[in-house]
Amino acid sequence: MSSVAKERIASELESVRRRSLALLDPVTEDDLLRQHSPLMSPLVWDLAHVGNYEEQWLLGAVADTRVAAHLDDIYDAFRNPRRDRPQLDLLGPLEARAYVADVRGRVLDVLDGVELDDRPLLDEGFVYGMVVQHEHQHDETMTATLQLRSTVEYPLVAGTDVVADGDRASLPAEVRVDGGPFVMGTDLEPWAYDNERPAHTVDVDEFWIDTTPVTNGAYIEFIADGGYAERQWWTDAGWTWVQEASLEHPEFWAPDGAGGWERTRLGRTEAVPADEPVQHVCWYEADAYARWAGKRLPTEAEWEKAASWTPEGTKRRFPWGDDEPSATRANLSTAGRFSPSPAGSYPDGESPWGCRQMIGDVWEWTSSDFTAYPGFASFPYREYSEVFFGSDYKVLRGGSWATHPTATRTTFRNWDYPIRRQIFSGFRCARNA
Ligand code: AVJ
Ligand code: FE
Repeated sequence: MSSVAKERIASELESVRRRSLALLDPVTEDDLLRQHSPLMSPLVWDLAHVGNYEEQWLLGAVADTRVAAHLDDIYDAFRNPRRDRPQLDLLGPLEARAYVADVRGRVLDVLDGVELDDRPLLDEGFVYGMVVQHEHQHDETMTATLQLRSTVEYPLVAGTDVVADGDRASLPAEVRVDGGPFVMGTDLEPWAYDNERPAHTVDVDEFWIDTTPVTNGAYIEFIADGGYAERQWWTDAGWTWVQEASLEHPEFWAPDGAGGWERTRLGRTEAVPADEPVQHVCWYEADAYARWAGKRLPTEAEWEKAASWTPEGTKRRFPWGDDEPSATRANLSTAGRFSPSPAGSYPDGESPWGCRQMIGDVWEWTSSDFTAYPGFASFPYREYSEVFFGSDYKVLRGGSWATHPTATRTTFRNWDYPIRRQIFSGFRCARNA
């Protein structure tokens, strides 16, 4: 018998769909159909794509039944790069909503009768977890699309308050993490992706890591010090890109005319808050800042050890322990804040070494390429992870304020090109001990 109950699966399916529809609810038909950036899909594509993915796995693979297999071509992410998606014969907003609802009704019927036995797809409800996480990931992607649509004010609901921290001023800037072996990845997490497996031992030298992500205020010092114009801080590829793209500051920032900076967030322009983690920086910017600060980005292994390993030698699902994320531990999408929280918030979410905000707030760039763990086996399809392995992509860890709790954990690996910054990406620094 699976320990992941059908009730849990049904409620996860219900809550991710509620989130997707709520996110798109304030968007006009026109804006659902339009492409807001060549980097992103029209929002209606994302919506029908999550329905098509659900149909392929939870009807096709689980029950050998299909309703709209003719849509597979249009909603195949590999066949159609994002820039080409507006030209496709897409379902309109009403049709897309009807399609995803129809699929969902049938999926719940199938779920009723299916036996969650030890077949690999069904063991622990894995394929359901995969589909739920897929939709959550697209919800974050759609949030990034809404952020790019900067001329329209997206209605912000009042999110939960930042968790008062009291001791933020006395927090050390960095903490030392012991050297020695730790367990990276997982064999135990039922809904972990293939790229998080198998658990394996990695030996890391002792190192120092920042207790919080790098703040806007600190990043402004890098800009003010001429960091973007100083060759020595950048890798060769980073320097080429900074010049080609004329980068001078994080995406969505502009000079405020008085020597400071403002940013546009979901259609509102406001002063850049100095104490928030910097976001919308690419890997090249994170890497250059770290060098300027006399530090470096953590490797993926260092990040995971600082987030999940205890000095006593045990592994945790989250920095604070094995319990699920909550409003006092991490700033994830369920908080509804639509923004990172000040660096140093969430003392309840602290790791045993003293790091905060490793889960939530901003995705954190690591120095590592996205590669397979030793013993990796693609499951259940190559196009989730395997085709992206190699030196083209850098790994990000931890999740952002736009990530749902079900779609992140200390072993979760995200990846993107080193030039990308429309995602909710920040970083923290590390250095050798
Ligand atoms: C894991 C976030 C890099 O959005 O490209 C969505 C997730 N895979 N649909 C992406 C994904 C298939 C993926 N990332
Ligand atoms: Fe997808």
